[in-house]
Amino acid sequence: MKHLIAYASSAGTTRRAAAMIRDGLAERGVEAELFDLRRYTRGELPAADEPLCLWIGSPVYAQHPVPYCAAFIKALGAPEGSWCAPFVAWGGVSTGVALEELGQAALDAGYNLAGGARVLCAHSNLWREADRPHDDRPNAQDKALLAELAGTVVERIEVGEPCDIESMRQRIPVVLEASAQMSMDKMRTMIPKPELDAAACIGCGLCAEECPAAAITLEGEPPLPHIGPACVRCRGCVRVCPEGAFLADMSGAPKHLASLIERFQEPAETTIY
Ligand SMILES: Cc1cc2nc3c(=O)[nH]c(=O)nc-3n(C[C@H](O)[C@H](O)[C@H](O)COP(=O)(O)O)c2cc1C
Ligand code: SF4
Ligand code: SF4
Repeated sequence: MKHLIAYASSAGTTRRAAAMIRDGLAERGVEAELFDLRRYTRGELPAADEPLCLWIGSPVYAQHPVPYCAAFIKALGAPEGSWCAPFVAWGGVSTGVALEELGQAALDAGYNLAGGARVLCAHSNLWREADRPHDDRPNAQDKALLAELAGTVVERIEVGEPCDIESMRQRIPVVLEASAQMSMDKMRTMIPKPELDAAACIGCGLCAEECPAAAITLEGEPPLPHIGPACVRCRGCVRVCPEGAFLADMSGAPKHLASLIERFQEPAETTIY
């Protein structure tokens, strides 16, 4: 069985978790291939002509996985006898319904569920803060848990015993309240797209290469980046621009996130299923 670890990652923590899973599998003599979903958002699909164990990782954005993760699962399809292990990277605010949504997308596509993880990470909206909570996460402790998960997944596949999606459902009551629920669409109305300072832009195209959602096109003469509707507000373009030409006001983020953490009261830990 081929182990494919596909991940969406803007600020790098989901990518680190993916590498930790790969190392955990390697400890058990199982080889795995990493696949950055930037390749998928630019039109590429990996080969799926044999049974897979698809590890699919997403950051939690507004309590959900990024939309192109579920789209990827559907587009890839599930070769007969395939398994899926979803994992989400979250910033210590709320894991919301992200893990179960990825699990459900896998079940809908025909996968058996092999396990999953919620991995505590540094919050990518706080990258400008000197004192960022969970700055070292995922760390060695998370790596050990993900290695344990890798072993559990391999065993479940060997004995043919799927993991129950019910076990992955978020049990924090406030997440279940309609008033507390967020969505990507709602978040897009609350957080504007990064704004371009055209005078500062040198048209190098780095932001378009970096964008995990392939939302940026270079247009005009001289070429300037334009952000399309696929933007998931990750601010990767703001972080990567060597000229500081993409602007985003992050000044309210620490206070806003602190109030959400207070509201959700979700224990800041990594959990495997
Ligand atoms: C637009 C946006 C929305 C986010 N929403 C949440 C959230 O609802 N809950 C949470 O715990 N973290 C949230 N985060 C933090 C990320 O889930 C977390 O930092 C994750 O590790 C980022 O993954 P990456 O480093 O692979 O990009 C959000 C980050 C961004 C940029
Ligand atoms: S990375 Fe910055 S300078 Fe380069 S094209 Fe994008 S906005 Fe312009
Ligand atoms: S345009 Fe910028 S903020 Fe939007 S998804 Fe792409 S990198 Fe992220």
